[in-house]
Amino acid sequence: MRYIISYVSTVNPDISNSDISELMDYVSSHNNAINITGILIYSEGNFFQILEGKEELVKMMFERIKKDSRHYNIIKMLYKEIKKTSFTEYHSSFTVISNGSSQEELQLFLQKEKINNPEHYKSISYLTQKFMKLG
Ligand SMILES: Cc1cc2nc3c(=O)[nH]c(=O)nc-3n(C[C@H](O)[C@H](O)[C@H](O)COP(=O)(O)O)c2cc1C
Repeated sequence: MRYIISYVSTVNPDISNSDISELMDYVSSHNNAINITGILIYSEGNFFQILEGKEELVKMMFERIKKDSRHYNIIKMLYKEIKKTSFTEYHSSFTVISNGSSQEELQLFLQKEKINNPEHYKSISYLTQKFMKLG
């Protein structure tokens, strides 16, 4: 079964901007290597993340992430099964966005989600845009 988990969290104020960009680089390459798709956005002291992939893998990753001292105050927003579509994982990859810079990346991510994950697209789009203060 495929699964989707999404949360927001607060960045540990002790970590630097370079720690954050190091983390973003690690997450993007590691998730692409292990077939976790979704997005990690850093904006104004908060993280927003969506993890999608094999149920056991995504749940295990979330348990690991929750214990990470680089953030706290983790608020779960989506924790659900994803129904497979005929388009599943069309052009999927893991996206990272930092400092609200990349509007195009975000729009590209949302376009892919609409195709890959139509069942949850409305909530994904709503949560993402609210987090980025676009909605
Ligand atoms: C906000 C946040 C999001 C993270 N997201 C991921 C992720 O999606 N994939 C991942 O492999 N590690 C992620 N990490 C890092 C993990 O918490 C952990 O440090 C990493 O998986 C290495 O674990 P290990 O030292 O036990 O091997 C994230 C950390 C933070 C603070």
